[in-house]
Amino acid sequence: MVKICCIGAGYVGGPTMAVIALNCPSIEVVVVDISVTRISAWNSDQLPIYEPGLNEVVKQCKGRNLFFSTDLEKHVSEADIIFVSVNTPTKTRGLGAGKAADLTYWESAARMIADVSKSNKIVVEKSTVPVKTAEAIERILTHNSKGIKYQILSNPEFLAEGTAIQDLFKPDRVLIGGRETPDGLKAIQALKDVYAHWVPEDRIITTNLWSAELSKLAANAFLAQRISSVNAMSALCEATGADVSQVSHAVGKDSRIGPKFLNASVGFGGSCFQKDILNLVYICECNGLAEVANYWKQVIKVNDYQKNRFVNRVVSSMFNTVSGKKIGIMGFAFKKDTGDTRETPAIDVCKGLLGDKARLSIYDPQVTADQIQRDLTMNKFDWDHPIHLQPMSPTGVKQVSIAWDAYEASKDAHALCILTEWDEFKTLDYRRIFDNMQKPAFVFDGRNVVNVEMLRDIGFIVYSIGKPLDPWLKNMPAVA
Ligand code: UDX
Ligand code: ADP
Repeated sequence: MVKICCIGAGYVGGPTMAVIALNCPSIEVVVVDISVTRISAWNSDQLPIYEPGLNEVVKQCKGRNLFFSTDLEKHVSEADIIFVSVNTPTKTRGLGAGKAADLTYWESAARMIADVSKSNKIVVEKSTVPVKTAEAIERILTHNSKGIKYQILSNPEFLAEGTAIQDLFKPDRVLIGGRETPDGLKAIQALKDVYAHWVPEDRIITTNLWSAELSKLAANAFLAQRISSVNAMSALCEATGADVSQVSHAVGKDSRIGPKFLNASVGFGGSCFQKDILNLVYICECNGLAEVANYWKQVIKVNDYQKNRFVNRVVSSMFNTVSGKKIGIMGFAFKKDTGDTRETPAIDVCKGLLGDKARLSIYDPQVTADQIQRDLTMNKFDWDHPIHLQPMSPTGVKQVSIAWDAYEASKDAHALCILTEWDEFKTLDYRRIFDNMQKPAFVFDGRNVVNVEMLRDIGFIVYSIGKPLDPWLKNMPAVA
């Protein structure tokens, strides 16, 4: 029986291994992690991450051929194929601070593999890493090899949160990079055989190691670039009276461009986009490609601009001050259908409003109060360390309260800010909300989910990203 071990039971490792286990009953899959709480949660009925469809998949194979364990050494030493899916934070100190990936966790996983292995291994890079990480890992392993042969593969994961299970079941492609040597090709084939249990052969692409590593960074950079492009257009739409949804629709009809990833928003978030682009920028700079680095940097700058612009809209519309005013924050996750808050635009928007002394009442159907408090008190980039290494704020932010539902968050509020596109925000009883708010009552829709006309009829002053401005907002400066 082929044995797979995955180091790192996070958003990537957990769902990916569950789907492999479900589709490959003849393979034993063990997911290991240094975090005892994470593993206990995977072993309970309350999984540590919220992902539609995940519970059902895990239920079907947990205890059959899918296991979660903290005994890293045993399972790594027994495995034929080891996936590594650990955190890769952005460095906050030293060389490359603020851009380069911190490979501390990767390196410690690689050294552990070298320490405990007694048989040949295929080691698969799953977490997104800078180009040439595989080579560095290969060096660590071969210099500590005790005669054991290691083949390193890069198999970047393209799943998006909220749709992870369907992405894993029907991936656009599976990418496997490896050495173009006989042993390298054999390792590629072994991993191909795993995916071939359910993925059509023509969707499994094989490349050299660096192409696979770079493709992941490039795909995320291209996706993020589309969002920054449409968000840049949204500012121009507001200034000129065009409607960004109409512009996106017209642009997306061009079959060379396509309709996806053209929704204007308060900004993109998530664990990958910013981190991967910063990585790309750093790699370009290290290779003397300043113009290329600056080109990609601009994608992040526009994203920051969009978040600042949103905060400025809120403050300037409300008589240039939100001091002491209650603002209901609807949604905190970085997108709908996930409880993940990593790099969510809500953090910067809330911090901006708090900077202007607002009182916030935050509601998100999937994010815990603890997580929100932690996010609002954490330093930039600290989120991507294992949870037990994240500094906890002892007090939390005083001007922030957490609400149980949208109605509680909006009660007596001067304004609502919609920061995540949860479906339930489309069908709230906005009449009831309006009646319970201070007047004038504002809605700032950062995700274009509300029916603007209907809300204006109720009496709200509405701002929607990239849409023709409410007369109230005209002539009010809102550039960042
Ligand atoms: C992304 C990539 O899509 C995935 O392939 C990769 O493996 C990991 O990074 P993820 O971050 O989970 O996935 O979510 P994604 O759906 O890409 O959304 C990222 C951010 O962009 C979210 O904040 C989302 O709200 C925002 N977004 C997305 C927009 O603002 N507009 C859009 O049109 C699409
Ligand atoms: P991703 O979104 O890439 O899956 P996560 O932060 O959700 O990232 O998951 C990474 C996991 O890796 C965490 O649960 C963390 O505890 C675990 N981890 C980090 N370093 C190690 C290590 N050396 N050995 C085992 N697990 C590790």
